[in-house]
Amino acid sequence: MQKIHAAITAVGGYVPEYRLTNAELEKMMDTTDEWIQTRTGIKERRVLKGEGKGSSDMAVEAVKELIAKRGIDPKEIELVICATTTPDMQFPATANIICDKAGMTNAWGYDVGAACSGFIFALTVGAQFIETGKHKKVIVIGVDKMSSIMNYEDRTTAIIFGDGGGAVLLEPNYEGYGMIDSLQRTDGSGRIYLHQKAGGSVKPATVETVMNREHFVYQEGQHVFKFAVKNMAEVAAEIMVRNNLTAENVTWLVPHQANMRIINATAERMNLPPEKVMVNIMKYGNTTNGTLPLCLWEWEDKMHKGDNIVLAAFGGGFTWGATYLKWAYDTPKK
Ligand code: UT7
Repeated sequence: MQKIHAAITAVGGYVPEYRLTNAELEKMMDTTDEWIQTRTGIKERRVLKGEGKGSSDMAVEAVKELIAKRGIDPKEIELVICATTTPDMQFPATANIICDKAGMTNAWGYDVGAACSGFIFALTVGAQFIETGKHKKVIVIGVDKMSSIMNYEDRTTAIIFGDGGGAVLLEPNYEGYGMIDSLQRTDGSGRIYLHQKAGGSVKPATVETVMNREHFVYQEGQHVFKFAVKNMAEVAAEIMVRNNLTAENVTWLVPHQANMRIINATAERMNLPPEKVMVNIMKYGNTTNGTLPLCLWEWEDKMHKGDNIVLAAFGGGFTWGATYLKWAYDTPKK
């Protein structure tokens, strides 16, 4: 019997309207547009405004777009996996909330926590349910409202992160298109360099943890940078070698958008020219779990059936990974 591949058959995305520009950050903290652009490549990032709005609200918009594009009923979706670092609540899972809000009443769902590598991890997990024949329609989401854990007095983190996310539909493909290979790595000893100090079971929220600003992202940027440059490039190179991919036959690199310098280092290691690299960090900053699906969303109509796509990410944990997929469809011209 022909092997079942899990193929992406539709993409949806969402970024909030509000643009937090470098000029605005200059007024809020001791920084400059020049510093931010030179060190990160970021010009602006989006922020979700509005009382009671969370990651699920952005994910629902992405899911609705995807479902409309594919022309299916939300009730056909069997499983929803949501990669997020900023869940709506500690529990229940954000995936459950998304299912409810988007009318996916026949689906079960859960969240995956792997920080910036979350979408790659969740995609790998979702693909298993398709490849085994267990499910025919699985939605994988990567979404974050990073502004909810951002200390806007800390210039080392506040300039980097933004809000947004995207979703993909996975369906079985019997012609060899879809997910071909993926690899994932974790090194928990890296947690000291990038984490949220309080709010978990080790250090539940108290008046002190709030006063000490321990519910925000804590990052030792230089350490993370060194690991990210090395590992994201290495994992991308490894997936190329083991699938006989070359700079010529890779059509697109979809890199996690953490820092332009990390993206460039990964592309250089793969010998890829800039025109083969998806980059939107200047517009959205680092949306954590959202970066990869947001790239697929923006580039959907530029990808073609049979394109060789490599996704690569590095994030808190530490976590990192890469995925190789053969794109499964041409987007109809509008
Ligand atoms: O997505 C999850 C994984 N995360 C990452 O991949 C992030 C990896 N790290 C980075 O992208 C970079 O380390 C940062 C963008 C966070 C920082 O860039 P850097 O080139 O590593 O800067 P640095 O931390 O070495 O700081 C250089 C200088 C310091 O001043 P001194 O000590 O040289 O006087 C900082 O205090 O820049 C200063 N600085 C700033 N200056 C203006 C730090 N942040 C800012 C700022 N504006 N926003």
